[in-house]
Amino acid sequence: MLRSCDVDKLRPGMKVGRDVKDFDGKVILKQDTVLNAKKINNLLGYNIFTVYIDEIKEEPVVKLGNTHGMLDSEYMECYQKTYKKIHDLFYTVGQGGDFDIPLLDSVVANENIDILCDNKIAVRQIHNMSRTDDYTIHHATNVGILAGLFSKWLRYPRANMRELVMAGILTEIGKTKVPKTILNKKGKLEPDELLAVQRHVDYGYDMLKFTPMKEFPNVLLGVLHHHERMDGTGYPNHLKGRQISDYGKILAFLDIYDAMAANRSYASRKSPFDIFEILNSDIQKGKLDQRFGILFMRHLRASLKDCWVGLSDGQTAKIILIDPNNVTAQPIVQTPQNKFIDLNKAENLKVEALLTAEEI
Ligand SMILES: [Fe+2]
Repeated sequence: MLRSCDVDKLRPGMKVGRDVKDFDGKVILKQDTVLNAKKINNLLGYNIFTVYIDEIKEEPVVKLGNTHGMLDSEYMECYQKTYKKIHDLFYTVGQGGDFDIPLLDSVVANENIDILCDNKIAVRQIHNMSRTDDYTIHHATNVGILAGLFSKWLRYPRANMRELVMAGILTEIGKTKVPKTILNKKGKLEPDELLAVQRHVDYGYDMLKFTPMKEFPNVLLGVLHHHERMDGTGYPNHLKGRQISDYGKILAFLDIYDAMAANRSYASRKSPFDIFEILNSDIQKGKLDQRFGILFMRHLRASLKDCWVGLSDGQTAKIILIDPNNVTAQPIVQTPQNKFIDLNKAENLKVEALLTAEEI
């Protein structure tokens, strides 16, 4: 009988129960390979978190009941400082003040990005933290973090990574010009209110183009294009396909993902698996870029391992295995009672939401 085992819990002598493949489908370890320290170390170099083994007695029991450490203190401290800086940056410009380039530089400094965009914890932390205070600033911070992660997944050099993170943070700066009564309105927006919100794209571009940010044309285009869609149904200029900048195509995914993952004034948060369905559907309809979308979802799915979820029957469980190659596949989860559930096979049972630390 096969059981999954976290890579960091593998021990020499365990036998691999299924071929282990990387994201490109290349076999890294063949079935029946007996592990040694070198092979386990090699696995740590890949973005793989779980391996099937066939010696169930050798597998350590996964402890599920302890939520201590769900929120990483160093990460949270860095996040909160960054949130404060982005808040100050946005509202200084929004009130007609100067754009504080040194402040933005400190946000996208290597040491800050390296903590915030740690592949192992960033996505989990985004979902685990409660979003009190200003939704727009949390969203800007999270889109910036996702931009840093995506840059790594794209193997961008540092200069491009910094640019994409800046663009991610600045996508929503124009919302400082949109009345808060509209931004915080509960329920559906009236057509004129929707137009007012959509103007944040032009506001943001106009606010930035007369600042030193004009030296970063790709960032400005990313801000301007993040609501354009490949089939011309986006805004503000109804651009199509190759007319949309790469940063704009990428930021569309990051913006949608973070917005849907959050509780907003007009909609409840969605589970990542519901979001993947929506993103995949929009790719199939020709609205979103396929190449960037598949890459984003594959890597993001891998990052969701170990996240806690609420199931539709009220149970809580921890994600222990996700197929990265099928972007709409459901995960395998483990309950605190050590019950394993393959949600691809469970009828009428799905992930409702990722849980925050307080909800576990
Ligand atoms: Fe936006």
